[in-house]
Amino acid sequence: MNIALVLAAGTGERMNNNTPKQFMMVNDKPLFIYSVEAFQNNESVNAIVIATNEQYIEQVTQWCKKYNITKLKAVIKGGSTRQESVYNGLKEIEKIIESPKDVVLIHDSARPLVSQRIIEDNIKACAQFGAVDTVIKASDTIIRSNNEQTIGEILNRQELYQTQTPQTFRFDLIKEAHEIALKENVPNVTDDCRLVMNFGHDVNFVDGDKMNFKVTTPEDLEILKAILK
Ligand code: CTP
Ligand code: MG
Repeated sequence: MNIALVLAAGTGERMNNNTPKQFMMVNDKPLFIYSVEAFQNNESVNAIVIATNEQYIEQVTQWCKKYNITKLKAVIKGGSTRQESVYNGLKEIEKIIESPKDVVLIHDSARPLVSQRIIEDNIKACAQFGAVDTVIKASDTIIRSNNEQTIGEILNRQELYQTQTPQTFRFDLIKEAHEIALKENVPNVTDDCRLVMNFGHDVNFVDGDKMNFKVTTPEDLEILKAILK
């Protein structure tokens, strides 16, 4: 079974908007619905679970009805960190899986343009490797600075990638990685791959694409609207 866990429990500080960014309307449709529809429309995905802010649970459920998200299994309360939102999602997913080897695709609702090809590649690679990230090669040179003023180091672009989502894992692996992190009080990580690596497991990657960008700032929202036009 392949289950999509869509994360929609953030507050969107960098968007600087009263409503969390995932609930902003883009062409009369809430932003998070775009990514939920991508999983709804993918034949390999069997179930969808959404983690969201407590006060939006009812509204998210209504929206999913309106957009005919028939694979929706649950809308649950997220946490105050992304890591906590994922963990809450995994506890819910545990109730619906058929095997501990089932596959969980963890996706940012703020990446509305995830493609069917990316979803398929994640599922296929996860069957083989157990843990998969979606990445693109860095196109700009990236520097490191430790004083916010001068360049400390110019990094080798050939070795640099930017990560996107989905990040996709065998259920038993990601659940255990989260539980170990909780036990060891690992501070909040925004990236599930890091938890799996801490746990001593390799993470393979598949190609993302530029269109799968994360809507983070008001500028990104303008770019999204321009693309959809
Ligand atoms: N997310 C979540 N629960 C949290 C924090 C984030 O489910 N406690 C989700 C967001 O809704 C988003 C995704 O994780 O879809 C990626 O996070 P990010 O882009 O950082 O969103 P926010 O945390 O909402 O934005 P910001 O960091 O600007 O506050
Ligand atoms: Mg954030």
